[in-house]
Amino acid sequence: MKLLVIGGGGREHAIAKKLLADKEVTTVFCAPGNPGMKQDGIKTVSIAEGDHDKLIDFAKTENVAWTFVGPEAPLQRGIVDDFQKAGLLVFGPNQKAAQIESSKDFAKQIMRNNQIPTADYKTFSDYHNAAAYVKEKGAPIVIKADGLAAGKGVVVAETVPQALTALSDMLEDNRFGESGAKVVVEDFLAGEEFSLLAFVKDEAVYPMVIAQDHKRAYDGDKGPNTGGMGAYSPVPQISDEMVEKAVKEILEPAASGMVRNGTPFTGILYAGLIATNEGAKVIEFNARFGDPETQVVLPRLKSSLVAIITALLTDEKPEVTWHDNAAFGVVVAAEGYPGKYQKGMVLPQKTMGSTELYFAGTAEKNGELLANGGRIFLVAAQAANLEKARNEVYDALKQMSLPEMFYRHDIGAKALK
Ligand code: AMP
Ligand code: GLY
Repeated sequence: MKLLVIGGGGREHAIAKKLLADKEVTTVFCAPGNPGMKQDGIKTVSIAEGDHDKLIDFAKTENVAWTFVGPEAPLQRGIVDDFQKAGLLVFGPNQKAAQIESSKDFAKQIMRNNQIPTADYKTFSDYHNAAAYVKEKGAPIVIKADGLAAGKGVVVAETVPQALTALSDMLEDNRFGESGAKVVVEDFLAGEEFSLLAFVKDEAVYPMVIAQDHKRAYDGDKGPNTGGMGAYSPVPQISDEMVEKAVKEILEPAASGMVRNGTPFTGILYAGLIATNEGAKVIEFNARFGDPETQVVLPRLKSSLVAIITALLTDEKPEVTWHDNAAFGVVVAAEGYPGKYQKGMVLPQKTMGSTELYFAGTAEKNGELLANGGRIFLVAAQAANLEKARNEVYDALKQMSLPEMFYRHDIGAKALK
């Protein structure tokens, strides 16, 4: 069986690697992928993730059994709709269902209509109305660009002036273009964050083990928000009871609410949650796997990812079981990320012991692997417990030469306190 994964980051590396581990699978293509993936036998295909026609031609020519869409941008552009129109099997939400991520306002309406716990909010497209609301509410307060902004369209404002600057950047100076033409202003929620993902087919929800990401660039949760600097799973600070409740009160009503809304969801539904004193509340939904969560969640999947996706695509009930171990991952990024950064640094191609590398922003030249993006690669380990997995990852990182790159030293610190 041949499969196609769309996307090119560490998340897609983890998805493709898991798919390739299935004995039914002979080839996993990844378009566009990145050169680092080739070490694991993944076949990269130089077609851009936005070139739907070429991707469809490729899937037909190679006779792939189905296609898995990794990132949000092609989902928002309707890649699933286009593949389906071409008569191809594809896993991911269609354009309408992907709005649960691509429009924060849409997501908030689904939450409101289905009594899903989330922060109180209001949506604005006029600066003066938004500013008046912020002044009335006071700080801390959270300002979010309505559309997709690669994890960078959110400002957690500690003061009212900071909030006003964020509003003026988005609504008056168009810093996020169309994505910021509308903003959601929401109450600040205090508590530990965690990511709860599930395989979803219409109303059926099959939850995954939870993970915790680290969004800020630097140690001690300092610095700007990024796409994510490291993750681990399980998250012992979050009780099983809270997770079970979140499945019943958040994921299941979201899936059935999407069906009732006329926008049924098939794909990976990702709930970004905050464990408040009143239980878990939603800070965002994503319509896809998380990056870097995937690199620590999928290795813990005991059942076959291929069998799960195949079952969901053919309306059968999948078997979803998990290893009782721990997984840990630290992102290596280019100095300056998420702002301006250097490219072209030579990357390590090997790692120590049983640790693994998941590549993201890489390029290739004369047999060398070079840095070519903000988040460059992730070092991951699995072990009997988090502490062991964490030590393996940090020991491996210490052995690497990482010129003009950086990583956080405190991933998982909260879990081990
Ligand atoms: P998002 O892109 O919506 O995940 O937001 C990025 C980050 O901003 C989250 O991971 C949180 O750390 C923070 N954040 C978002 N919304 C809130 C909120 N309502 N209260 C507190 N922190 C938030
Ligand atoms: N790690 C956060 C995300 O994928 O949105």
